[in-house]
Amino acid sequence: MRKKARSIAVSSGKGGTGKTTLTANLGIALANDGYEVTILDGDLAMANLGLIMGMNDCPVTFLDVLSGDANPEDAVYEDYGVKVVPTGFRFEEIHENLSDVDSERVEEVVSELLRKTEFLLIDVPAGMAETTIISIAAAREMIPVTNPNYSSLVDCYKTIRLANVVDTWTRGLVVNRVGRASDISRDEIEHFMGNTVGSISVILDVPEDDTVHEAERAGVPVTVYEPTSPSSESIYELARVMAGESDLPYEPYEEGEIDQTVKRLSRALTGRKS
Ligand SMILES: Nc1ncnc2c1ncn2[C@@H]1O[C@H](COP(=O)(O)OP(=O)(O)OP(=O)(O)O)[C@@H](O)[C@H]1O
Ligand SMILES: [Mg+2]
Repeated sequence: MRKKARSIAVSSGKGGTGKTTLTANLGIALANDGYEVTILDGDLAMANLGLIMGMNDCPVTFLDVLSGDANPEDAVYEDYGVKVVPTGFRFEEIHENLSDVDSERVEEVVSELLRKTEFLLIDVPAGMAETTIISIAAAREMIPVTNPNYSSLVDCYKTIRLANVVDTWTRGLVVNRVGRASDISRDEIEHFMGNTVGSISVILDVPEDDTVHEAERAGVPVTVYEPTSPSSESIYELARVMAGESDLPYEPYEEGEIDQTVKRLSRALTGRKS
């Protein structure tokens, strides 16, 4: 059978909801379930993915690829069975990097990465900056991550609106750090979504779990640090849901799908309609 190509953006709107933690661990869970996974750090400014994956020394990064100084394959590192394209945090270059993302180069890189993997997960930066829009448009599917409070949910709603504009499909929400009595309920979340962006349901709750912090201190992703912790088990469940294809509004098969993704990305980047 031909290799599938699915691209999934993990986004939130508000910062600190758990995107990077979930992207890294979802990738590891999918890889453990036998899929080929590549994770791309779309957060050019903060570049936390490499840290969560325990990568401290990556001489070539996504920034070098975007600037044309390196090929995509030179910036791919493998850890815990997952390929990772990290972004280096280089303070002195930050203005250059953020103001001048070359859209054609992004298209080339995304299409090359998609040709070599089954799942491309993109850790999307918070906010509404250009890099946020590009990271969402570079994926065919999006899972927004919210915390169980209204301020997080409102920003999540904005991200879903953005995804609709660039034609990226929102499968449903992940609610992370669930467990306090003051949390808003799943019904309230779905009701809020119903009144704003239409029917978007909650895919899954990930519990508040101290093991995530312990793992972070140990420099190891939580699904590796303690695979049976409550958060790890939820993330494995999320991987099973995400791997399912029965709900997909498109056929994730190689060449055609990659072309479609790159065309959509191009439209989003240039504002063209065709
Ligand atoms: N399920 C969880 N239980 C407990 N702590 C969690 C959980 N998920 C994430 N965290 C903690 O929340 C903090 C933020 O997580 P993370 O860096 O993944 O968020 P982010 O959305 O990527 O943030 P940013 O917007 O800054 O990129 C981290 O300290 C992490 O350990
Ligand atoms: Mg992050």
